[in-house]
Amino acid sequence: MNNKEICVVGLGYIGLPTSAMFATHGCKVHGVDVNEEVVNALNKGKIVIEEPYLDIMVQAAVRSGHLKADTKPQEADVFIIAVPTPLTKDKKADMSCVISAAETIVPYLRKDNLVILESTSPVGTVENLLVPILEKSGLKVGEELYVGHAPERVLPGKILWELVHNNRIVGGVNKKSAEKIRDLYRIFVNGEIYLTDATTAEMCKLMENTYRDVNIALANELAKICEENGINAWEVIELCNKHPRVNLHQPGPGVGGHCLAVDPWFIIEKSPELAKIITLSRETNDSMPEHVLNRIDDILEDIEGVKKVTILGITYKPNVDDTRESPILKLIDLLEARGDYDISVYDPHVKTYKYQAKDLIDASKNSDLIVLGVNHDIFRDLPLGDMGLVMRNKNLFDTRNFLDRHDVEEKGFNYWLLGEEKKSS
Ligand SMILES: NC(=O)c1ccc[n+]([C@@H]2O[C@H](COP(=O)([O-])OP(=O)(O)OC[C@H]3O[C@@H](n4cnc5c(N)ncnc54)[C@H](O)[C@@H]3O)[C@@H](O)[C@H]2O)c1
Repeated sequence: MNNKEICVVGLGYIGLPTSAMFATHGCKVHGVDVNEEVVNALNKGKIVIEEPYLDIMVQAAVRSGHLKADTKPQEADVFIIAVPTPLTKDKKADMSCVISAAETIVPYLRKDNLVILESTSPVGTVENLLVPILEKSGLKVGEELYVGHAPERVLPGKILWELVHNNRIVGGVNKKSAEKIRDLYRIFVNGEIYLTDATTAEMCKLMENTYRDVNIALANELAKICEENGINAWEVIELCNKHPRVNLHQPGPGVGGHCLAVDPWFIIEKSPELAKIITLSRETNDSMPEHVLNRIDDILEDIEGVKKVTILGITYKPNVDDTRESPILKLIDLLEARGDYDISVYDPHVKTYKYQAKDLIDASKNSDLIVLGVNHDIFRDLPLGDMGLVMRNKNLFDTRNFLDRHDVEEKGFNYWLLGEEKKSS
C-alpha cells in the first residue's frame, strides 16, 4: 500500500501537507498546481505558505525523490483533488476549480484508479458534478473507477499533527470506494476512519463548520446584548460554561477563513427556505465588522478631524498568515469608506499589506486607538509603554479579550472590550 503513486491536484493549505504526508510515508507523490510559483518552489523543496514544520517535511520529501510538482497531472493509482471552493459574489459555491481539476485528470485515468475529492463541496457534488466528468474517461464508476469524498478537518497552525490524529469521515459512491479511501488514509492516519456514502460525507463536513458558525453567532449576539445591558459577556460565558452541558463559544470581530464563513452558504444555497438559523447566523457574524466600526466611532467621537486607528492583526485567526475572508480586512474597508480615519496595520504573519508598518512603534505613531484585531501570540506582551509614548491618544480596544486589562490601564490607556458595556468605567 505504501508504494502507491498519488497525484494531488491543488497544492495549498490542504493539498501540500497531504502530499508531504503521503510522500514521507513511502508513496510517490506527483503534485499539480496551476500556480507556477507554487510548483517551482516545491521542486526546490520550498513552500510559499506558512504552516509549522511543513517546510521541513516538504524539503525531506522532495530530497528523497518522493515528492515533485508540475502544472500537469500524470498517471497514478490515486488522484486527490484539493482545490479551492470559494463563494461567488452572490454567496453561491464557485465550483470552477473542482470542475477544471476533474477535467484535467480525465485523460490520465485508468482502470482501478481511485479519485478522492477533498475540497469542501455542496451536497451532491460527487454524485452530480464529479462522477459525470470522470465518466468521460470511459471507465465505469464504482466498478472500474472508485470515487468518493474525504473531507478535511485540520486546524491551520496544527495541520501536520491533526492530519495524523484526527478522526475522519470518508464517503464513497459505493462501499468499495469508501473502503479503498479508508485503506489509503490508513497509511498515515491514526484516528478513527468512519465510512459512509459521498453525499452524507459532504453534509457532515458542511454541518461541522455550520455548527461552529452558528455557535459563534450566538456568542456574538450575546456580546451585543451584554454591551447594551452593561454586562461583561466574557464573564457570562466563563460562568455559563461551568454548566456540565453548556459550551458557549467566544465572540469576536467576525468570522473569517474560507471554511466557517463559506461552508454554511453551501447549505443555504441548496435549502434557502429551511436554513433559517444558518442564514441568520451568517448574517450575525457578517455584521460584526460593522459593529466594531460603530464601537470605534463611539470611542473616538470626541476627537475632531481625521483620527488614526492602529490595527494589530489582519488574518482570520491567530498565528497564521491566512487573510481569506478576514473580518478585520472588512473592518478596514469600512474604516476607509468613512473617509475620516487614517489607518496603520501591524501583522508580522502577513508579508505585504497596504497599511503595514515596519513594527509596533511605527504602527502606533500619532495613533488615537489601538485595535487588537487578532490574538496572535506575539501580541501577548505588547510594549504598551513605548507605544503609548508615540501615540496621540492612548485608547486600546480589545476585540478578543486577549490582553490583561490591568496591565493596559496601568500603562495609562483607556481599555475597551468587545462584549462589555460601551463606556470605560
Ligand atoms: N485550509 C483549510 O484549513 C481547510 C480545511 C478544511 C477544508 N478545506 C478545503 O480544502 C479545499 C482547498 O483549500 P486550501 O485551503 O488548500 O486552498 P488553497 O487556496 O490554499 O490551495 C488551493 C491550491 O489549488 C490550486 N488550484 C486551483 N485550481 C486548480 C486547478 N484547476 N488545478 C490545479 N491546481 C489548482 C491553487 O493554485 C492553490 O495553490 C477547499 O475546498 C477548502 O474549503 C480547507
